[in-house]
Amino acid sequence: MENLSVLEKLHNSFDDKLLDSIKIISNCADTFGIRAFIIGGVVRDLLLEKPIYDIDIVVEGNAINFCRYGEENNFFQICRISEEFGTVKIRLKNNLEIDIASTRIEKYPTSGCLPVIEKLGCTLEEDIKRRDFTVNTLALCLNSKNFGTLIDLTGGITDINKKELKILHDKSFIDDPTRIIRALRFKYKLNFNLEKHTQKLCDDYLKNFNNNPICYERIKQVTKLAFSLNSAKLFDEFVFKNIYKLVSTSIRKCSGTKIFEAISTFLPKDNLSNLWLIYLACLINTQDAQKLNLNTKEMQIIVALENLLTQNPNFQNNFEIYNFFKQSPIESIICYISLTNSTAAKCYLTKLKNIKTDLNAKALIQLGYTEGKLIGYTLEKLLEAKLNKKNFSKNDEIQLAKKILLDF
Ligand code: CTP
Repeated sequence: MENLSVLEKLHNSFDDKLLDSIKIISNCADTFGIRAFIIGGVVRDLLLEKPIYDIDIVVEGNAINFCRYGEENNFFQICRISEEFGTVKIRLKNNLEIDIASTRIEKYPTSGCLPVIEKLGCTLEEDIKRRDFTVNTLALCLNSKNFGTLIDLTGGITDINKKELKILHDKSFIDDPTRIIRALRFKYKLNFNLEKHTQKLCDDYLKNFNNNPICYERIKQVTKLAFSLNSAKLFDEFVFKNIYKLVSTSIRKCSGTKIFEAISTFLPKDNLSNLWLIYLACLINTQDAQKLNLNTKEMQIIVALENLLTQNPNFQNNFEIYNFFKQSPIESIICYISLTNSTAAKCYLTKLKNIKTDLNAKALIQLGYTEGKLIGYTLEKLLEAKLNKKNFSKNDEIQLAKKILLDF
């Protein structure tokens, strides 16, 4: 980060639409008379020259009043106001939507649970103190007088250079244990390490963790983001460093590499939305999953895996394999492969799952079938034959269908 100036990086990382938008917000902040900053992870990513898709802006004071002024004076439009959090979503004339937040002081009345806002509209310094890691506390001035100046109150720039994640105070993980999973995600996303003391506080927290009250809604969100990185090493660290305790009381034995390999081989590239859940489902049982507020589809994946694992199949033929797996979501079967290395499951996903009979109900009716139940029975028999016999042709299907009808 020594080579390019912050302004050069800003021009490299932000597209024209984003640059135009921040200039308008900057103008508006100047005329309204408030300090405005780009803040948090965006500034970190900007310095690291990572691509930027979305920015967080904070104004030192009340964002709602600021945005009302902006709308009245035709700088932008307000889309949505959250009175409770003092945040506003605005839309600029180029249609870009940006969130503007008020500076705020947060307190954690119960450790591990959601913070409450103690004061909306504090100084930038106070707002920075509520944040997680020094590398996430950097603010970039937007007002024209200091446009592009970096404010670093915690040593964040040094830590970015050292590639270290360092919390701001010793109670940080106690206040908000989701930060442990955030740290794990940043470690693998940015290729950073935890600073020594931060690592110790993290280890101590997990060692002493004994089902303390915790906000599972947020745990789910951060776990989803972490496992979405699809990193075997991240997963192994989640297990070996006891981070899993934040999610579950007990876990199954499994390896990140095995899961990664099963995903790479069997999960279609257009079906990645539940990739994160494959990692989670390999680990936890239905009972622990219930705490995590999963949606119906997500829960089905966990339950179906548990069903597969509680049985002890002894397959005699392909049709039995087919029937064993056919009701389970693909994600559950991928977990099953990761955990058991089942050849049958691999054969199901690569071959059997896609086998269809050539004849359908309409074709059977053309052969003289009338009765509904018999059609269902015959189609099942055709599939069984097709799965179990080599080179079972369309003609073989017709002969079998005719025979079943005749015998009936
Ligand atoms: N933050 C925090 N504690 C949390 C969550 C967020 O202090 N538990 C602060 C950090 O300053 C963070 C900012 O809120 O930078 C924005 O959070 P978020 O958008 O979740 O993360 P980013 O740091 O922007 O990282 P990424 O873009 O990779 O999600």
